[in-house]
Amino acid sequence: MSKSIIILGIESSCDDTSAAIIQDGRILSNIIGTQKVHEQYGGVVPELASRAHQQNIIPVVNQAIKESGIEKNQISAVAFTRGPGLLGSLLVGVSFAKSFALGLGVPLIDVNHMQGHILAHFIKEKDGSGNPPNFPFLCLTVSGGHTQIVNVKDYLSFELIGETIDDAAGEAFDKSAKLLGLPYPGGPLIDKYAKEGNPKAFTFGIPKVDGLNFSFSGLKTSILYFIQKKIKEDPKFIENNLADICASIQHSIINILMKKIEKAAKESQINDIAIAGGVSANSGLRKRLQEMEQSHQWKTYIPPFSYCTDNAAMIAITGYYKFINNEFCSQSITPQARLSI
Ligand code: KG4
Ligand code: ZN
Repeated sequence: MSKSIIILGIESSCDDTSAAIIQDGRILSNIIGTQKVHEQYGGVVPELASRAHQQNIIPVVNQAIKESGIEKNQISAVAFTRGPGLLGSLLVGVSFAKSFALGLGVPLIDVNHMQGHILAHFIKEKDGSGNPPNFPFLCLTVSGGHTQIVNVKDYLSFELIGETIDDAAGEAFDKSAKLLGLPYPGGPLIDKYAKEGNPKAFTFGIPKVDGLNFSFSGLKTSILYFIQKKIKEDPKFIENNLADICASIQHSIINILMKKIEKAAKESQINDIAIAGGVSANSGLRKRLQEMEQSHQWKTYIPPFSYCTDNAAMIAITGYYKFINNEFCSQSITPQARLSI
């Protein structure tokens, strides 16, 4: 039997410090240190994020190795997020990965964070189970920083066919939540309150954007004007209608996303559809995609919750496929805040 491939993955692109161990595509550990410090500021403060990564990275990596049950010297390569993301945050993970790989005498693998979100679909559980999509498939990647439709042709072959021209879908959730006085990140809270509300209680316009691109900034403005107007009539409007407002906002965001993925599927004639990224944890989006599976005869792929928001398992699995492909990087590599897929 050939020697197994064990990858240590490191993710530090935004406000989660994460480390994971993957052996031959199977997850052994996935530790995520979430930074609470940003909550009080209503968004991620880059300087504070870098400092928290510095504090978290060693304990998080240590715990990932400990929980995996492997020994440090069994690691075949260290994979890390090169970008896109916050430069100061990325620097912590990149520097740590470089030193750790150097110390162990193993190769380094740079990973694109957006590719990682997509390849999370290929992570196998410890017992070998999983639900990997067939190639080619379309992936709607929806996170706090990105909204993309990608034609995934193979493990490491991606074609970007649509993206947002302004805010990301996660930002639309978070900024709307902020208008409602909810803390950061507001996406999960909108999801929670929406469950009790009527998605058709209030309507917000759907933007007209060419091709497969998205726009969310108009939605944010119309929600702002709507709230301001309603509060003038009734100062307790938000309090008294929170569930209906959240359900309606969520419904509008999902409509914008679904309209474009439907168009992409039709144009490319690809009916294998996946979602990825933090917003793919949204229960309304997951439900709608399942409904589309029935009505459109799609085969859909929805990641387990633990692989939706930022995590190092997705970086380790991408590292695994790059390892097999002999795609390594040198010690002189630098992080990139902007990096296309
Ligand atoms: O992928 P991710 O963890 O980080 C980035 O790469 O940006 O995505 C974070 C985003 C945030 O905007 C957060 O509000 C959103 O994902 N999010 C959700 C839910 N869980 C996370 N949005 C809506 N519903 C959720 N359940
Ligand atoms: Zn992400």
